[in-house]
Parts: sequence; C-alpha cells; structure tokens
Amino acid sequence: MTHVLERYEELIAAGELRPDPEQRAAALRLNQLQEQLEAIPPRGSLIWRLARAKAPAPGGIYLWGGVGRGKSMLMDLFHACLQINRKRRVHFHEFMLEVHDRLRIERMKERGDPIQPVVAAVAEETRCLCFDEMVVNNSADAMIMSRLFTGLIDAGVTLVTTSNREPDQLYKDGLNREHFLPFIGLIKDRLDVLTLNGPTDYRMERLAGVTTWHVPNGPAATAAVREAFFRLTDYPPEDAAHVPTDDIDVGGGRMMHVPKSLKGVAVFSFKRLCAEARGASDYLAIARRYHSVIIVGIPRLGPENRNEAARFVTLIDALYEHKVKLIATADAAPAELYAEGDGRFEFERTESRLIEMQSLDYLALGHGEG
Ligand SMILES: Nc1ncnc2c1ncn2[C@@H]1O[C@H](COP(=O)(O)OP(=O)(O)O)[C@@H](O)[C@H]1O
Ligand SMILES: [Mg+2]
Repeated sequence: MTHVLERYEELIAAGELRPDPEQRAAALRLNQLQEQLEAIPPRGSLIWRLARAKAPAPGGIYLWGGVGRGKSMLMDLFHACLQINRKRRVHFHEFMLEVHDRLRIERMKERGDPIQPVVAAVAEETRCLCFDEMVVNNSADAMIMSRLFTGLIDAGVTLVTTSNREPDQLYKDGLNREHFLPFIGLIKDRLDVLTLNGPTDYRMERLAGVTTWHVPNGPAATAAVREAFFRLTDYPPEDAAHVPTDDIDVGGGRMMHVPKSLKGVAVFSFKRLCAEARGASDYLAIARRYHSVIIVGIPRLGPENRNEAARFVTLIDALYEHKVKLIATADAAPAELYAEGDGRFEFERTESRLIEMQSLDYLALGHGEG
C-alpha cells in the first residue's frame, strides 16, 4: 500500500528523479485523490451495502504543461499506486476510438440517444479513468466530448488527465468550436487544473547527447540503443531479460504484439514492422501510442525490397506526423538507405524526414502536437 507522494520521494531518494517543486505539489494533490478514492468502500462489499451512501465521486485532476515535464510519469505513479478495483489508464486517443465504436453499435440499435448507454457502460466498468495526452483535433470527438464527460462525471467516474495544453487552448481554432466550449467549462468546474510547467524538459535532458541513428547494425549500435532505452525508461540494465511487452489494438479487430515496451517507449525490429504485411493503420496505432520508438536492424534496401521500402515510407510518415522520437540502428545513413528501386522518388521525403527527426528542434517537440 504505497502512496503516490511516498513513491515519488522514493524515486528521488534512489536518484531516478530529480527534485522538482511543481511535481511534488502535483504528487501531493494526486496523493490526496488516491486517499479519497481508496476511502470509498468497494462496490458490493458489506460496508457498501450497509451504507449505500452515494457520496459524490471525488473530483478529478487535469494536469497540463509542456513536454517532458513529468505529466505521464506522475499519472503512471498515481495509477500504479491506486488500490481500487475499477481503475483504468488509457491513451486518450485510444479511448475516443473505443467510444466511437461503442456509439456506432448503439446507433444501430436505434434506441434514441446513443451517448447515455455508452456513459452507463463505461461508468459500470471504471471508477477512476486516467487519460494520457488529451488532445482534441477532430470535430467528431469535439462534438460529443461535453456530453460524454458530463455524463461520466455525473455517473460517479473520477477523471485524471494529462495534456500539453491548458484547458482554454484545447481544440483551438477547431471547426464548430462553440459546441466544444461547454467541455472546457466542465474541466474548469469539475476538475482541479494543475500546471506542470517547470523549466526542465526532462525527456530532452535524457535524450541530450543520445545519437538517434546508429550505423552500422552490430553490437556497438545495439548496445547504444539499449542504453538509450534504459535512460528513457529508468529500467535497470541488469534486468534486461524481463522488459515488459505490450499488445496494441491496431483497428479492424487486429492486435499487434510489441516485444519490448515501457513508459511510452517501444522497441521493434525492422523485420517485424516492414517485412510483414503491415499498413498505415498499424503504423498510426504505434505513432499514437508511443512517444519514442526504437527500430533495430534496418538493412540497406534494394530494388528487390520495394515492399519493405514502401512500408518504411508509410511508417516514417506516421511517426513524423505524430512527432514520435525515433532511435534506430541501420546499415546506412538515411541518404544511402534506398539507392534505387520503385518508389525511390517518394523515398526522398523519408530521407529528409529522417534527417529532421535527428535534430534538436524535432526532439524538443511534444508527442502528437501539430
Ligand atoms: N524529476 C525528474 N527527474 C528526472 N527525470 C524525470 C523527472 N520527471 C520526469 N522525468 C523523466 O523525463 C521523461 C519525460 O517525462 P514524461 O512524464 O514522459 O513527460 P511528459 O508526459 O510531461 O511529456 C521520462 O523519462 C521521465 O521519467
Ligand atoms: Mg506524456
């Protein structure tokens, strides 16, 4: 039974994190929410049945600030420490895709307002919903968010969310923004808005000095990307054999297995990504879910690899458009990777993107920000 603040301070004492007053204040607030949520007896328990007191759910938290400030780190600590049954941490975009799927099913039933049953189902499953990276960039989401989230809060769901933007800046200049404004009002009324915007971009600090494109493939390159992975995730190198795996929903009812993944960083082989029948939806799912991707074993490509080259182009487009940080081992520099073959012309864009993706300016961008 560890509390968020205690855990945060343990990590500082262990040297994994540097002391940061704004983070500590946020950890304290999350700690308080943890205590409130844990004090409510579990549904169906004896005390719960005796009391039946429907105390309102504790108000949630909106944690916003620039990239690399530790928002996801704090949310993950909170989620990991929280001892309640119905908790869920999900990437915001993934949650909205799921909501749209559920809405589609409800609409087919033609039983009136589809939002209410979706709200009821989510509230039944979850008491505390943690969203990472709330970003609203399409009108389909914007149109339903106010009603969806009002419904969830009223149904007793506590929301904790991170975002790179302050509430007033969400969906800025978006289409039909007037329908979205009530959602901003809801955040300000019902969530505690905390700022995490200190001077240090810790991710940048961890990436500083890290070479992102290693040539050629081989033990030295492998060792360098392993080191980068440990640095980005604080994973102990001596336990390299047990790095967690992940499975991601790539749409159309298909899943993709990710052999190594931790704290928003995923490791793939070029083979798995580009030598198998994969396409844009797989790459988009990856680009949305991870802020950093490590690809190992990129070979020099020739005319006989035109399928691999075409997939690689699509992959890099998805990563680039979502500002995903790329670390790679390859047999050639981007400009020599695909000297000839079908789609050679297209590949020039990829070369240029790969070069830009190594720049400090690119590395300083926030994941998913336009
Ligand atoms: N106080 C800190 N000291 C050292 N590293 C930190 C600190 N806070 C966060 N980090 C690390 O910096 C990186 C970026 O943090 P993250 O939570 O992903 O940022 P954000 O979600 O705000 O973009 C992560 O590797 C995280 O572990
Ligand atoms: Mg984050």
